[in-house]
Amino acid sequence: MPLTLHIGEVWHVPSRPDPGPAAADFLETASALVVSGDTIVDLGDVTTLQARYPDAAVMDHQGALILPGFVDTHLHFPQIDLIGSYAEGLLSWLSTYTYPREASYAQADIAKTAATRFVTELLANGVTLSAVFASSHEISADTLFAEADRRGIRSIIGKVSMNRNAPAALTQNVAEDVAANERLIARWHGRSKRLWVALTPRFALSCSEPMLAALGDLKWRHPTVYVQTHHAETHEEIAAVRSLFPQDQDYLAVYERFGLIGPRTILAHVIHPTPEEIARIVATQTKIAHCPTSNLFLGSGLFPMRQLSSAGAAIGLASDVGGGTSFSMFQTMNEAYKVQALRGEFISPTELLYLATQGGADVLGLGDQVGSLIPGKRADFQILDWRQQRLLAARFDQGATAVERLFATIMLGDDRLTRLVYVNGREVYSPTKEGGQS
Ligand code: GUN
Ligand code: ZN
Repeated sequence: MPLTLHIGEVWHVPSRPDPGPAAADFLETASALVVSGDTIVDLGDVTTLQARYPDAAVMDHQGALILPGFVDTHLHFPQIDLIGSYAEGLLSWLSTYTYPREASYAQADIAKTAATRFVTELLANGVTLSAVFASSHEISADTLFAEADRRGIRSIIGKVSMNRNAPAALTQNVAEDVAANERLIARWHGRSKRLWVALTPRFALSCSEPMLAALGDLKWRHPTVYVQTHHAETHEEIAAVRSLFPQDQDYLAVYERFGLIGPRTILAHVIHPTPEEIARIVATQTKIAHCPTSNLFLGSGLFPMRQLSSAGAAIGLASDVGGGTSFSMFQTMNEAYKVQALRGEFISPTELLYLATQGGADVLGLGDQVGSLIPGKRADFQILDWRQQRLLAARFDQGATAVERLFATIMLGDDRLTRLVYVNGREVYSPTKEGGQS
């Protein structure tokens, strides 16, 4: 297998940092990494690695940063063009903007054009692994799977299930929904070892009890599929769930009753959980996608990160496009920091990078394969040129420490920095080859 030596400033966070100042020690740095086929085989000092692998092809990235690919643990494909749609809170945003737009993804040509743009946005922002809600139409999930396969990214994708509280163009009956999910699982689950299916009840409000039961039955028959949904995002939503499901002790109990909670379930938001729900999320190893730009944009609330992480919950970061306002994981880290600051709690630069990489990979069940750059992992990484951003270049020129420069990069970074993106050691994105960045 031919070897390639990538030279640049490597930053990654292979293990979960302790909270607080001690976190700085968890940022691991290097000056080169060696890739063989789809795998990272070595990492370290450039002089040592050049001597150890004299025959390796050399890619000198000339001082640029080498980071693991980012992981976006929750976003919506048919909301790519909804970012920045004015609304006063979640439920009115859904009915005024989101549902009408998602209805158009029943059309194959609209889904196809959008899928190309969507995958480009992910890659332009260095996102190599994602968990995505398509629309409720099988064609939208199918089209996105095909584009993800063609472009070589890793992704977990689901067709949204909904059969109530939404326009007819978005709802399906239980039998149709089950049949569509069965076909998607047969076609895509595990395909290319990069693509997986998620059962995707939009949230408890959009699904009748028979639909939730049918999804629970699908999960029971296909235990390796994922489940993704929304949970406890706003007080208004929680109150509506309580009145639709009066027999359940709380919101989480609705999903639990139908077998939809467990280690391969990703709950987006979880901003207003009860102490009992937190205990059960932890006990069942259910995963959480924290969506800070969305939570601020929709005014949903301030995610109780420390309460959840100190209880032992696994948390990743997510853009939640288009309730979220950016595909950039730098912007997402930036606002995650600010959300905790508003609570009087702080996330260190190292922990932020961990949440956007290894933490997210753990949430999506792939933390043993990707998330950091240690030897043995798949070679999913990105080359970031800090010189592309004037303010950031000035900060780097001032010669700060790696952790200080990491924090400045989190606050100031965006897709201008992305120079190259690799999945499985293969180049999958370069802005010049895409005809320029958006
Ligand atoms: N809850 C149910 N559907 C959605 C959605 O599309 N976005 C967000 N942010 N919350 C939801
Ligand atoms: Zn969402």
